[in-house]
Amino acid sequence: MKAELLYEGKAKQVYRDTEAPDRLILAYKNDATAFNGKKQASFTGKGRLNNEISARIFAYLHEQGIETHFIEKQNETEQLVRQTEIIPFEVVVRNLAAGSITRRLGLEEKTSFTPPIVELFYKDDALDDPLINDQHALLLARITESELREIKEKALTINAALQELFLSINLTLVDFKLEFGRLASGCIILADEISPDTCRLWDIDTQEKMDKDVFRQGTGDLLDVYNVILQRLEDRI
Ligand code: TMP
Ligand code: ASP
Repeated sequence: MKAELLYEGKAKQVYRDTEAPDRLILAYKNDATAFNGKKQASFTGKGRLNNEISARIFAYLHEQGIETHFIEKQNETEQLVRQTEIIPFEVVVRNLAAGSITRRLGLEEKTSFTPPIVELFYKDDALDDPLINDQHALLLARITESELREIKEKALTINAALQELFLSINLTLVDFKLEFGRLASGCIILADEISPDTCRLWDIDTQEKMDKDVFRQGTGDLLDVYNVILQRLEDRI
């Protein structure tokens, strides 16, 4: 049972669960935004697709022994999660160069990173989510040095698990964004969502972009590619 709307982001609403105060309900919206909200559109069915895709990916991570906030999908567009206090930076893991790192460092798209590169971005729309270093993260978030180390290690473990998952459905995991949250117990676990909104995925055979870049760059139909991702995840096993 959802009650009070706690927070509304660009792609999701967060509700308090009246029956369980330590749980939240994430309601996925049909809205898509890019460039910090400068480009906007709505796609009927996007909320259902991302709810389903993210639920499947978090269930897979649980099978791999990775703790997350995800509990269960409740209906087409909503899922139940454990309540956490979100650590206010995004953790981006990059296996191949694409997006902002190509512009920032003048790298060619597809430049390969071994080991993968981990970057932190401060979650602040007014500042356009700037890239920050470790010292900035310690200053801006209430975390210790060892917690920051632990977050980066978890991000790399999740990268290895996700690379294997996506490889099994013929996709290269180029890069992705994670958010972590702190439980009342103090533990830090994976939170938020993992979907084609938050990952770059390239088809291994055709090299086609199968993620939100089709909307960012106006090169394809967002619903078509998200449907393909869900279909491939459903057909897996
Ligand atoms: P970037 O290349 O724009 O820095 O994006 C890196 C990855 O993070 C890419 O997979 C898209 C994802 N991402 C988000 O999930 N949310 C965001 O607000 C941004 C900027 C990127
Ligand atoms: N999520 C961000 C926005 O809404 C940026 C992006 O994903 O490109 O604008």
